[in-house]
Amino acid sequence: MAGDKFEVGRDCALAMTARDPLAGYRNLFHIPKTPDGADCVYLSGHSLGLQPKTARGYVERELEDWAKLGVEGHFHAQNPWVPYHEMLAAPTARLVGALPEEVVVMNSLTVNLHLMLVSFYRPKGARNKIVVESNAFPSDQYAVQSQIRYHGYDPASSLVEIAPRPRETTIRTEDIEKLLAAEGERIALLMLGGVNYYSGQAFECARITEAAHAKGCAVGFDMAHAAGNIPVKLHDWNPDFAVWCNYKYLNGGPGCIAGCFVHERHARNPNLPRFAGWWGNDKDARFRMEPQFQPIAGAEGWQLSNPSILSMAALRASMDIFDEVGMEKLRAKSERLTTYLEFLLEQKPQEGFSIITPRDPAQRGAQLSLRVTKNGRAVCESLAHHGIICDWREPDIMRVAPVPLYNSFLDVHTFVEKFLTEIRA
Ligand SMILES: Cc1ncc(COP(=O)(O)O)c(C=O)c1O
Repeated sequence: MAGDKFEVGRDCALAMTARDPLAGYRNLFHIPKTPDGADCVYLSGHSLGLQPKTARGYVERELEDWAKLGVEGHFHAQNPWVPYHEMLAAPTARLVGALPEEVVVMNSLTVNLHLMLVSFYRPKGARNKIVVESNAFPSDQYAVQSQIRYHGYDPASSLVEIAPRPRETTIRTEDIEKLLAAEGERIALLMLGGVNYYSGQAFECARITEAAHAKGCAVGFDMAHAAGNIPVKLHDWNPDFAVWCNYKYLNGGPGCIAGCFVHERHARNPNLPRFAGWWGNDKDARFRMEPQFQPIAGAEGWQLSNPSILSMAALRASMDIFDEVGMEKLRAKSERLTTYLEFLLEQKPQEGFSIITPRDPAQRGAQLSLRVTKNGRAVCESLAHHGIICDWREPDIMRVAPVPLYNSFLDVHTFVEKFLTEIRA
């Protein structure tokens, strides 16, 4: 596939779809249907991934064990519930490039972000600032603002937003480095999205982490739009922590239990403050119900509560698929799909839209964000009416993400054809 040249006609889309070595994976997912029963063109995997057909069986197995065993399922279910989350450690670690003890599934993303901020946002004197992207996801903004206030500081002075330069749409790494050089001693934490949810920009995480650490700042990443989308190497990139949700590219289902990474070097650090709960306590001592908290070494030590088995069961179905296909092959197809989307859109440069996502495939994942200057929301709604599902972010951004596990080159072609018709209407 790699060497094929793109052509604008539908035949090219059909040929590439027929030759796609990963095309069969689409059959492992439930594709939403239009009212007349046709497959939707689903380009919103950056928002909510589709349901693996195997998810139901994984969940039903736990429902059956619950029905048969009640509380005994904690130890005697086919997959006992007390250590259930441990089954997700190895596949999660493979996916985000971590050691198994550096990751855990627990809570949801924003909760995990707060738990990490408790441990890694340690403002002291003049070093009290948090740096985020100017267009960071609102929940992240609320979380960091509230943590700044919680420590008695004022977000007006302690929250620094790094923005693209005027007339540019993505943030330059050298501008982050310049900010660190100028302000580093006053920055307690740098917290960026691995892939920005709005622009689709993938940050140079390793380079940024190194620059921030050199200035003594802690580093965290929100990997919600990166995990399962781009190759991720959290251990080597070396941030102090990362958090992500498992319901976007990772197809764990709405509100799915989330992921959390704590770098190995913090695994046994007794000086880190943390909010504690019994599920983070030493496993041998947990059921002795003693009042002293002894954290499990590694990310598991940040757990609070016993986690949702049903949510983890659905997630396992998807992680098994990721393990089977592997990120390397997915990434190869993803780059090709998104470049094809870009190629088709570029044939019509004067049509009232522009691509704000970086053009370099190394600086983006599956998603392209289109700035649609006229009637964008109406265009997006009309596409949905025709079974083409993208999403809209105010004031003028349409996000389109062909996902390599279940989208085809034909999906991309169908979208572009209809999108161009709609914006001309
Ligand atoms: C980048 C990013 N961060 C945080 C969140 C919030 O996630 P949650 O509701 O799971 O806490 C989202 C949700 O879409 C997101 O896209």
